[in-house]
Amino acid sequence: MSSDFTWRALVIDDDIDVAEVAAIALADAGFSVETAVDGRAGLEKAGRLRPHIILTDIRMPGLSGIEVLAQVKKQSPETEVIVVTGHADIDSAVEALKLDASDFITKPISVNALMVAIERAQERFQNRKKIKDYTRFLESGWTRTARELLETHRYQQNLIESSMDGILGCNAQEVVVTFNASLARLLGYERSQVINKMRLSDFFHPEEEKRIRRDLADRRFGGENRLFMYETWMRDRSADKVPVQLSMTRIKDDQQPQGLVCFIRDLRMIHRLQQEMADQARILHQDKMMSLGRLAASVAHEINNPLSAVLNYVRLMLKILERRAVESEQDQKFQRYLQIVEKETARCAETVSGLLTFSRKSDIRKENIDIVEMLEHCLLLSRHRLDLSQIGLETDFDPHLPPVWGDANQLQQCMINLIFNAIDAMEEGGKISIQATADTSGNWVTISVADTGHGIEPGHLERIFEPFFTTKEEGKGLGLGLATTYGIITNHGGKIDVYSEIGKGTTFVVKLPASKPD
Ligand SMILES: Nc1ncnc2c1ncn2[C@@H]1O[C@H](COP(=O)(O)OP(=O)(O)OP(=O)(O)O)[C@@H](O)[C@H]1O
Ligand SMILES: [Mg+2]
Repeated sequence: MSSDFTWRALVIDDDIDVAEVAAIALADAGFSVETAVDGRAGLEKAGRLRPHIILTDIRMPGLSGIEVLAQVKKQSPETEVIVVTGHADIDSAVEALKLDASDFITKPISVNALMVAIERAQERFQNRKKIKDYTRFLESGWTRTARELLETHRYQQNLIESSMDGILGCNAQEVVVTFNASLARLLGYERSQVINKMRLSDFFHPEEEKRIRRDLADRRFGGENRLFMYETWMRDRSADKVPVQLSMTRIKDDQQPQGLVCFIRDLRMIHRLQQEMADQARILHQDKMMSLGRLAASVAHEINNPLSAVLNYVRLMLKILERRAVESEQDQKFQRYLQIVEKETARCAETVSGLLTFSRKSDIRKENIDIVEMLEHCLLLSRHRLDLSQIGLETDFDPHLPPVWGDANQLQQCMINLIFNAIDAMEEGGKISIQATADTSGNWVTISVADTGHGIEPGHLERIFEPFFTTKEEGKGLGLGLATTYGIITNHGGKIDVYSEIGKGTTFVVKLPASKPD
């Protein structure tokens, strides 16, 4: 207690002399003292003066000391009350102690006994105050900590909520405990449907979940128990596929699994852009092929007629020379020269006809074609070259292929081009696999020709269908094979695609529309 603190005491006793004695003793001990002559007046003063210590007689007319004690303790429990009893009044003293009186002294009052009781009451008062202050201190500290905790919690909650990426947290049983707004939006759920109700596995297709768990255990995908920027897909509320990039970590505490946290990024936009870019590239490619086709068509037409004329006349001259059976050296020379002119002109005519096919200006005669029969025929024609280059052959033909409406000669030419290209790509030997399948709708027949050759450089991929694009040495390739194939397949309403990996091989995939039953 500070030095300017003054203890206040109230003495309640109907015996004025007793009250006087006690008051003097207390004043001597430094108290500021008031007296009251009965219980009612005492209570009134106690309410007004708020004394630290009250000394009250037990037996008084009107309100008894016990009643005063009970009232005082009810109104201000921190006030210390000492009761004064007669010698034979031990029961009252016990009752008073039960009602939390600090002490009792007996009449006649001995100043020493009074001072001992007063000191004890002071001590009790001070202890009680200390405890109260300490409790208040603890309470304020606790409130502050609780407030700080709450703030931190709110801040973290805000961080999670405002993240553009989806955040999903699971407990050790893999039940979802965190599911932020972005993720709720992405997957079309209300958070209340998910939290504590759904499990991690509810968001993945079982096969995909298996793959994720396998790769989570594999260090190569972002470290132990981690997946970093992992491409996968999730199931939204309507069980539709949503492509996402997933980063996932298993949380552990003292090696005990605590759960999982996932960061999820929507890939739909990126996929859409990629698709748009691919579409644009395809359109550009188609445009290029169309202009090349127009150019090829005009050149071929201009050359075709004079070439036919030259060829016809050369053949006529050769016939005349043969009939005349002239033996002069000069004639024989002429005959030889004309043969060379015929051969070279025929070669030009072949090139021109290739160009015409590419430009889709050539005539086609369509009929129902049995693709398997056509492929077997192609293989018969390639047998010799395959054997020569020690190339293995693997075929897988669906026996129930629908027929294709087209020109058998032209389609056969396409397949031969693909097979010969594959053979050219495997000078050291290898394997060709040819597959013919129909899709489930029965609308398309797919033929793929795969080799284990040297592959095509990425920079060449988009040029291989251009007429005269070749990487083969002079005299070995004209660069018309794929251009012609492209022309024929497109002319049949089909599509041709290529997949290639350097050093591993190349696969050409041709899709042709199946004939309609009628
Ligand atoms: N299976 C393949 N493996 C590797 N490269 C290939 C394959 N098929 C085609 N190519 C590449 O594409 C180019 C063009 O092929 P294309 O068939 O049009 O012409 P070519 O084979 O060179 O000559 P041509 O077919 O007129 O005799 C080839 O030169 C080659 O570089
Ligand atoms: Mg070729």
